[in-house]
Amino acid sequence: MKKLRSQEWFGRKDRDGFLYRSWMKNQGWSHDLFDGRPVIGICNTWSELTPCNGHFRELAECVKRGVWEAGGFPLEFPVMSLGETQLRPTAMLFRNLASMDVEESIRGNPIDGVVLLMGCDKTTPSLLMGAASCDLPAMGLSGGPMLSGKFHGRDLGSGTGLWQMTDQLRTGAMKVEEYHEAESCMHRSKGHCMTMGTASTMANKVEALGMSLPGNAAIPAVDARRNTLAQMTGRRIVQMVQEDLRMSQVLTRQAFENAIFANAAIGGSTNAVIHLIAIAGRIGVPLWLDDFDRLGSSLPCLVDIQPSGEYLMEDFFYAGGLPAVLRELGEADVLHRDALTVNGQPIWKNVVDAACWNRDVIRRFAEPFKPSAGIAVLRGNLAPDGAVIKPSAASPQLLQHRGRAVVFETIEECHARIDDETLDIDESCIMVLKNCGPRGYPGMAEVGNMLVPKKLLRKGVTDMVRISDARMSGTAYGTVVLHVSPEAAAGGPLGLVRSGDIVSLDVPKRSLCLEVNEETLMARRSKWTPPPLPERGWLRLYVEHVLQADKGADLDFLVGRSGARVARDSH
Ligand code: FES
Repeated sequence: MKKLRSQEWFGRKDRDGFLYRSWMKNQGWSHDLFDGRPVIGICNTWSELTPCNGHFRELAECVKRGVWEAGGFPLEFPVMSLGETQLRPTAMLFRNLASMDVEESIRGNPIDGVVLLMGCDKTTPSLLMGAASCDLPAMGLSGGPMLSGKFHGRDLGSGTGLWQMTDQLRTGAMKVEEYHEAESCMHRSKGHCMTMGTASTMANKVEALGMSLPGNAAIPAVDARRNTLAQMTGRRIVQMVQEDLRMSQVLTRQAFENAIFANAAIGGSTNAVIHLIAIAGRIGVPLWLDDFDRLGSSLPCLVDIQPSGEYLMEDFFYAGGLPAVLRELGEADVLHRDALTVNGQPIWKNVVDAACWNRDVIRRFAEPFKPSAGIAVLRGNLAPDGAVIKPSAASPQLLQHRGRAVVFETIEECHARIDDETLDIDESCIMVLKNCGPRGYPGMAEVGNMLVPKKLLRKGVTDMVRISDARMSGTAYGTVVLHVSPEAAAGGPLGLVRSGDIVSLDVPKRSLCLEVNEETLMARRSKWTPPPLPERGWLRLYVEHVLQADKGADLDFLVGRSGARVARDSH
């Protein structure tokens, strides 16, 4: 085994070696722990303000058990934790900041390998991005989904149930007392959202990328097998250090293509597009927006799970979880079977015998839940650099639609006007929301699924075409076009749309067009001015450097990896 990186700290005989070891000994570590055994960092996103990751201290202890057993030396460290529900203005504003924290915490410390503890939406991509830039041996470990919500005798899914009940409340179909009662019924155990929202989608991506042990995506947070998986992860990361199996050997182009295949098969969140492109950018794998359409859009969705279906992550786990899905994909020849995973085996070897215990939840490739369900990428004069839609969550009759635009310049304007009875809107209109992209919001909020106006809900309208440069919660649904690039605040054509313009959406033809002549658009463009820059701090740095959604919304100077070498190696 080659000399361990941690020995550049702990193996020194000089004054700096004294310094590196002696201060660590104040925690009671014995001298022999610095003798050249693999030092395993446990990168923890625990926070009481990130409820989805609130059980991570216990999970970290289980990882440590495995590390000790395998002869390693575990050292847990905190990084910025991004809680989706509490953090304002949007957790996405801080994904890249957290990734910098992860990258520099790993690079700057005596770590040979790292276990990444992640759960709530942005904690997964931020940890993968930061670790990828260092490229040490690394394993992902998700915290697991919550148990299914239960309310009045039926399942209640995170987010998805909230959007449905909020519409019922607005139309008077639900009492406010029931609405409040549901609060305690939806999230009744540790873990992250148990629909196929962004957190579950990304946990599945970690497994499909080969970055975790098999089974990572679906074991519920409170199931004892989640702790066992943590222990096994602790054991395995020590071996990975001994084998010098680095992230870049796992995160290959094949791995990302497997993640795209899997995203279609599970009906995964549109947010996965932005995060996977950003992770690929860090590790140096070329991955483009059009790859998601070319590789994934014709694939069927095999998993009947909310928001596209009925079931929840707990059901998915009991049915066999992602290994059963990957086996279906592999048998249909839609999987790079040789892609290496962190356990040292090709992905196919991990899943070839995976069982499916419930064909209502996980369907066969030949008899899918939904055909052609992957993410579609749209282009046209309204989105020259692309926009995305998740057809499996949309209304089929709206996938080809031409209508009059009703424009909201900001989400605040949308909130203020949407239920105004005098708003000139009907179900054939197309709602257009501007200034919610990476720069415009800033941070690209999950507001793309604008509410359907109350007066239309009363008529029984439940879906309309909605277009924006925003993102959408993975738990949401509807005919919602997202991530329009370039965004309005970056001078994109979206900023030139006016109420009354005709917009046409044709998902089968992959087009999104504004039916306004070029002369008129030029005149409008000449009057457009960019929004002012934020005055200071992270917001300023972010707005000045954030890339557009089609490039993964990373900061331009963070793309790529510089490895684990530190710039200066002594005090
Ligand atoms: Fe944390 Fe949904 S709010 S995963």
